[in-house]
Amino acid sequence: MSNSADRTLHGLNRILTLELARVTERAAVAAARIRGCGDEKAADQAAVDAMRKELNRLPIDGTVVIGEGERDEAPMLYIGEKVGTKEGPSVDIALDPLEGTTICAKNLPNSLAVIAMAEKGNLLYAPDVYMEKIAIGPGYPKGLVDIDASPVDNINALAKAKGVKPNMITACIMDRPRHAKLIEAVRTTGASIRLIGDGDVAGIIHTTDPDETGIDIYMGIGGAPEGVLAAAALRCIGGQMQGRLQLNTQEKIDRAAKMGVKDPNKVYTMEEMAKGDVLFAATGVTDGNLLSGVKFAKNYIQTDTIVMRSHTGTIRNIIARHQDMKKFD
Ligand code: FBP
Repeated sequence: MSNSADRTLHGLNRILTLELARVTERAAVAAARIRGCGDEKAADQAAVDAMRKELNRLPIDGTVVIGEGERDEAPMLYIGEKVGTKEGPSVDIALDPLEGTTICAKNLPNSLAVIAMAEKGNLLYAPDVYMEKIAIGPGYPKGLVDIDASPVDNINALAKAKGVKPNMITACIMDRPRHAKLIEAVRTTGASIRLIGDGDVAGIIHTTDPDETGIDIYMGIGGAPEGVLAAAALRCIGGQMQGRLQLNTQEKIDRAAKMGVKDPNKVYTMEEMAKGDVLFAATGVTDGNLLSGVKFAKNYIQTDTIVMRSHTGTIRNIIARHQDMKKFD
């Protein structure tokens, strides 16, 4: 089937889903080589270099829309950078070669190499500001929780829908002073809180499998780029998410406006942050609740990757043993 016919019938070429695993594997291995060494910048740079190299092998005409920052502040994988061989479909890419630089530097759980891809214009062009987010996993009525409802109402509604008491609900919240009131409110319900130091892409994805991760709901403010990446993941797995950019200065409002954000207070649904056919891949850098970190054995390197596609809802877990270790040099 020709590439264009394939896209008409099925959205993006499905082969790209598997190709994305190579991209995140490469970045994860590069970062993992120096995890726990206390050098956040070096680990991030290694992941960026490796991801870029692999991305440029893909048969796509890609544009980075969520990346390492603006062109001036990020030498590679900056917003607007063109990637791929330019011989395939026009796609937009959101990426974070090392999500959770600090947790990688400390070798703590849940740092990931992450990427999402969609047809051109289908990912929210979010500036690198904060975003308020709320997310729950699949299987609940649409609109069960709402970013504008009180935390107490959201926890109670979720507990009722799950058929448990609020004290059987666990909320994942980033451990930040800005969340003091949110934490206080959630605690009045009796719900448990998993306070995370970093890594809210993983925190949000964890809501999709509460039996495994113990997390039912994510609440609070984290990075906007991470919000779009998490929305892309949830588009594939299922679940609900809302996000609101934190545009609290004129400078941020202007920056966002240049990226097409007309209403600074708009609440974005998951579908508005990642539209159409979306592909997503993440490889564990450090061990986590859903993905193991990279393992360096004597004769092979092992990676644990999740790849997914919204069109079919297929989720693949790929444990890869790379015996040709030189390819990661
Ligand atoms: P980095 O990978 O850029 O270090 O981001 C980690 C992270 O914890 C994200 O997961 C989260 O969205 C954001 O930082 C929160 O920002 P802040 O540390 O400023 O609260």
